[in-house]
Amino acid sequence: MATKERWGTRLGLVLAMAGNAVGLGNFLRFPAQAAKNGGGAFMIPYIVALIVMGLPLMWVEWTLGRYGGQFGHHSAPGILQSTARGRGWKYFGVFGIWANLIIAAFYVYIESWCLAYAGFSAIGGFRDTPAKEFYNNLIGASENNIFSISIWGMGVFAVCIVLNVFILSRGLARGIETVAKIGMPILILFAAILAVRGLMSQVGDEGVVESPFVGLNFVWEPKLDSLANPAVWLAAAGQIFFTLSIGIGSIHCYSSYLRAKDDIALTGATTAWTNEFCEVVLGGTVLIPIAVAYLGLSHVADPETSGFALGFLSFPTLFQKWGWLAAPAGFLWFGLLFVAAITSSLAMGQPIMAFLQDEYGFDRKRSALAFGGMLLLLAVPVAIFEQKSFFDEFDFWGGTFALVVFAFGESILFGWVFGMDKAWAEMNRGAELKIPSIFYYFIKYLTPVFLFFILAGSIFQPKAGWDAYSNALFKGEEMPAWEWSGSGVIGKILHKDIEDSSDPQKQAFNEDLKLVRTIDRLVLVGVFLFFSVLVYFAWKRRAAEGRLAT
Ligand code: PHE
Repeated sequence: MATKERWGTRLGLVLAMAGNAVGLGNFLRFPAQAAKNGGGAFMIPYIVALIVMGLPLMWVEWTLGRYGGQFGHHSAPGILQSTARGRGWKYFGVFGIWANLIIAAFYVYIESWCLAYAGFSAIGGFRDTPAKEFYNNLIGASENNIFSISIWGMGVFAVCIVLNVFILSRGLARGIETVAKIGMPILILFAAILAVRGLMSQVGDEGVVESPFVGLNFVWEPKLDSLANPAVWLAAAGQIFFTLSIGIGSIHCYSSYLRAKDDIALTGATTAWTNEFCEVVLGGTVLIPIAVAYLGLSHVADPETSGFALGFLSFPTLFQKWGWLAAPAGFLWFGLLFVAAITSSLAMGQPIMAFLQDEYGFDRKRSALAFGGMLLLLAVPVAIFEQKSFFDEFDFWGGTFALVVFAFGESILFGWVFGMDKAWAEMNRGAELKIPSIFYYFIKYLTPVFLFFILAGSIFQPKAGWDAYSNALFKGEEMPAWEWSGSGVIGKILHKDIEDSSDPQKQAFNEDLKLVRTIDRLVLVGVFLFFSVLVYFAWKRRAAEGRLAT
């Protein structure tokens, strides 16, 4: 039973797409990545990645989605297959379902933290309870133990899953679109209030150690010193993918509900620019400047103390210095994170539901429940093993590496298998904006080449860094011995990111950790195989029913 769902209105579509893209990636991950990679030194690779990969791939994914939708496909396996001959592409398209579920498994858990924090802020709870204590309670953290579990934390998590399932079961226009129409304006308003209030802090105010503008400067003052560092390029590209929801299969799904003549050029670009506004302007003006004002630049620029922890562990406490605004500010911050998160997690659910609807005849309710069930199955281990393992593993493989793999594959499919001339015509059909023709060449040549280097760079990472080898070759420095870096794919597979310890207790813990990570990876592979088998049987059914043609 093919679904006949459609977006309600043009504005609704834009807001739903923006809701998809704008998420925790904008307000937490972006500032964390920027701080970790040297602030202004991060911004140049970031902007380059946006122009040569982000924007072109946004158009590519919109085009693929709208194209596949005409044949009744609303998830990546069918969408990719409809542009190609041969049989293999639908299996490659499994990435476009799988990554959504894997990301959702940890994303919805963080979403539930935001909900808990927003509620606790609203009742003024952080006046007496330090954020760290609240956090430890919420996740049930305990020292030196791989397990962490808290009953009420799990309760909030369950509420979040139920909420997602409920909204999704209401359908595209009545569920996702309605939530985005209400949520997006609220989110922008909340972020703007925090940004303005943050920038008003001055040295001399209670607790302010530095001007927030020092933080703004840190993000925006361009620095050229990291341009030769592949790790920074990788981080920048990874951020662009994650934040634009590219390489995941989610954009394809949303755009598959367009009509054949609906505009892609202008609407797709609008989504990208809205996301960038929410990321670099709003996201860049909240977390870092406020944190710098109260904690100092050195704290924020230190990878050990920056990032995620600032949002959940420092913010609730430092808002207490804002007088009567303390409780509202906490509510604004976590409320905005929650809204940003839920409009994104809905976008992770829809592709999975669409697959079950298109291929297995599920109705809305059953497919939403199926998504909730799968999510629960995968996310409970994430929540329990949160700190050490599942979390990072799912983020790396499902939320970073897979996106580059998928994006690389689809750019080859689009520009070379489908064929660039046909693809370009498809992309420009119904266009309300003339896509500059330079993007023809970007999509055909530059984007895949860039992706290839990013991919190669993330697989082969030597511990000493590539520059050490080029220095050895060209500047006569000593050639370092070859060793894999723990942040590269090969290094991770070999567990190079876990340092051996001479302390027997610590070492025993390390061994446990290696075991858990191996289990995580088997789970990841298992889920991929599960969906591949579903795809296999779906196409068998199609063949039996004689509806194989695209
Ligand atoms: N783009 C979202 C963010 O920035 C994350 C996301 C991932 C959304 C996968 C949809 C699908 O947080």
